[in-house]
Amino acid sequence: MNSTNNELVTPTYERVRSRAGIKWNRYDSDVLAAWVADMDFDPPKAVTDAMRRYLDLGDTGYNIAVRDQLLPAFAGWQHRHHNWRPDEERLRTFTSALHALETALWFRTDPGDGIVVFTPIYHPFLNAIADSRRRLVSVPLDPNGMRIDPERLASAIDSTTKMILFCQPHNPAGRVFDDSELAAVAEVAERHDLLVVSDEIWGDLTIDRPHQPLATSDERFAGRLMTLGSASKSFNLAGLRCAVAHIDDAELNRIIETMPGHLLGAASVSSLAGTHAAWTQCDDWMSAVRSEITARRDQLARRLASDLPEVTMSPPEATYLGWLDFRATNLGDDPSYQLLKEGRVALSPGPQFGPEGAGFARINFATSAEILDDIIDRIISLVRSTP
Ligand SMILES: Cc1ncc(COP(=O)(O)O)c(C=O)c1O
Repeated sequence: MNSTNNELVTPTYERVRSRAGIKWNRYDSDVLAAWVADMDFDPPKAVTDAMRRYLDLGDTGYNIAVRDQLLPAFAGWQHRHHNWRPDEERLRTFTSALHALETALWFRTDPGDGIVVFTPIYHPFLNAIADSRRRLVSVPLDPNGMRIDPERLASAIDSTTKMILFCQPHNPAGRVFDDSELAAVAEVAERHDLLVVSDEIWGDLTIDRPHQPLATSDERFAGRLMTLGSASKSFNLAGLRCAVAHIDDAELNRIIETMPGHLLGAASVSSLAGTHAAWTQCDDWMSAVRSEITARRDQLARRLASDLPEVTMSPPEATYLGWLDFRATNLGDDPSYQLLKEGRVALSPGPQFGPEGAGFARINFATSAEILDDIIDRIISLVRSTP
């Protein structure tokens, strides 16, 4: 399950600035990028080699085999890493996690239906609900520890609520929800007959606690679950456009079966090949990146505590994202605005993630120790110069 030469390469400014992706290009060239959820690490060599092989051979025609190999590779990865054996008959590929999520949202619910999210939440969930004219049912996480509050959840749901868009581990809170929180979600899902879309694309990037797939957590989820998986976060492959969904909801499977054959599109040969390599040859790289992210998370926590105690972060249990609380500073409801304009560092605006994000910003710390120190230095100097 490992390839040779899969070492994790420390990113340099030269390397990250030479790329054309949005992370280091959206803002002026003097701005340090700590916003969108791409890592600065190169993907594993086994992944780029697998993709290059197709290009070098001119092997770019129609290809069924590479697609058929992906689903067992996903199942094998889930079993090795998360002790879950997905039913391969219920797996299908999509071009991204949001592609799968929006398929369920648009085709399995109706305009006006209530859709539960635990806020603050990865903002495209909010956009997907608004764009589809569904009704946002926002259940704020308890700000003390960012836990799910079962009573708040139970009281938010009524007869028009149809779906829960779940995020485990949670972006931006960095939580890995525990058994009791998942039991509270299972309880309402069963009681109100809700479909649960569980976006688990951060599941490999855990730091303190193992990832718990919803599919193995509580039998009340059986028959009402769609689990989303992807190599995009774990291996820095978001541009490849490939994701997998395990659909354990008979009605959604039936709807998809009756759709026009090409409506859901298909992942490309190179994205399938790269993702397949990630799930079959890169277990060693995965543990190396997890250690690196743990070290960067600890570096960030240490430096905030010693040099900027007015900005706090409850250390994420997973992801490479920190949810920074600037409310004790003078940076206002959207601290990212001044951080970018005057501090020359790009974080994700807290209010994007819902009203609970006022006074917060999300930092991406998946980079080298050196770049992260520079990012933290800029945050410190902006806060210090804003009396
Ligand atoms: C929770 C979550 N879901 C989905 C996505 C987007 O994934 P994709 O590009 O596969 O749609 C992200 C990206 O950061 C994310 O954090």
